[in-house]
Amino acid sequence: MANREHWGSKFGFVLAASGSAIGLGNIWKFPYIAGQNGGAAFIFVYLICIAIVGLPVVIAEILMGRTTQRNPVGAFRKLSGSKFWTAIGGLGVVAGFIILSFYAVIAGWSTGYMVEALLGNFGQLATAAQANTHFNSLVGDPTWMIGFYTIFFVFTMAVVFLGVKDGIEKGSKIMMPILFIILIILMIKGISLKGSGEGLAFLLKPDWSKISGQSVLIALGHAFFTLSLGMGALMTYGSYLNKKTNIPNAAVQIVFLDTLVALMAGVAIFTAVFATGQNPAMGPGLIFNTLTVVFGSMTGGYFFGLLFFVLLTVAALTSSISLLEVAVAYFVDERGWSRQKSVLLIGSAIFLFGIPSALSFNLLADFTYNGKTFFDLADFVASNVLLPVGGFFIAIFVAWIWGFDKALIELKHGAENIFKDRTWLVTIFKVFLKFIAPVMIFIVFLHSVGLLESTIEQLKNYWIIIVLCIVMLAIMISRKRIKK
Ligand code: PHE
Repeated sequence: MANREHWGSKFGFVLAASGSAIGLGNIWKFPYIAGQNGGAAFIFVYLICIAIVGLPVVIAEILMGRTTQRNPVGAFRKLSGSKFWTAIGGLGVVAGFIILSFYAVIAGWSTGYMVEALLGNFGQLATAAQANTHFNSLVGDPTWMIGFYTIFFVFTMAVVFLGVKDGIEKGSKIMMPILFIILIILMIKGISLKGSGEGLAFLLKPDWSKISGQSVLIALGHAFFTLSLGMGALMTYGSYLNKKTNIPNAAVQIVFLDTLVALMAGVAIFTAVFATGQNPAMGPGLIFNTLTVVFGSMTGGYFFGLLFFVLLTVAALTSSISLLEVAVAYFVDERGWSRQKSVLLIGSAIFLFGIPSALSFNLLADFTYNGKTFFDLADFVASNVLLPVGGFFIAIFVAWIWGFDKALIELKHGAENIFKDRTWLVTIFKVFLKFIAPVMIFIVFLHSVGLLESTIEQLKNYWIIIVLCIVMLAIMISRKRIKK
């Protein structure tokens, strides 16, 4: 491990980690699940999940990586020496496997749309109906689907095969700012469309009746998905850090950038959805059906459309690389395989596993379980089960098993300034990591399987009092411990 590679700078790390975090989750998934789950109310719940669960776990995950300088399995093993916890690291590798399998399918759409843009095909899409027909005919064609899925997969494997550091770190520095500028242009364009007000209202005016146990679970799952959290991607990236990096500071920057991009995408897309009279709850095809109509009618639409899909594909690539990197790092570190062998074998296995997801929009569309296609199931299991479960165990592990106080000593390396004379900050972090994050994840879970429903019914009227009591109790307990 002595000559393990390291990032060139903290800025490089923040960009690479943001590159992992910012991807299809922000631009493709966030708008469509917000659309399906009631808009503003859902976004509100999602922001809460990001702040009180996401941020503390991001810090914990990066810290585990930096401290151990290992992949997730090795990190848990090194800190715990227990089989159970090592297996939790393994769960992360499995989650990465499943996520990449369906992630590359949507990235394949984006790659295919890049070619559509290049061919100038958006020019013919003047109405929502035309865009829908065009979209359905493309994803309904197994050859088109498998073809672009394969192309994207080959790119992902090629980058990881050659080693990602220079590629990712340098690429992110150029691509991320451009993506940002394009999003700003699309936002302005969206707001200037006739009828965009309705879209803004959808984003800003909450309808609380749309919130259910299920939608809170989806919001929590998405908080993990969008932050690349709960499966060791950030842990692996963190393992290439040295002790000089200020982790809390880097974590805040990553979380901030990720959230900003999601909200910007939300504005760009919902203004367009309502201005072109489309259905915000249409599901995974949302951005492909709405933005194309906007590009089709705007000045310079050819150029912006092309740029948008190039950047969406690149954003997906900087995320898919981090997904594959976790599994590859595991086989390299723990099994002694060469990087090349790991990429070829594991990459091919994931590729094959993803084919049913790629066919879920055409040949296998009727193959469903509980109304979910293979694609939906892979997404649901990974995003809404494995990631929150992983996040739960990471929080529990760092706060209780490794031990908060020991972890804190590690965390202070590089972050001395932040913690100096600020015991309250330590207290807050401690309360969140030890109690609030795990309890929240746990409750949301129980709730989603229906166990909590009846109890909640009775406790509903007193919830503010209960929450306040728990927070005060937690603060009191932690204060006492710190003084000791
Ligand atoms: N965060 C990525 C996105 O939002 C997806 C991802 C999830 C990447 C988990 C790595 C690990 O697109």
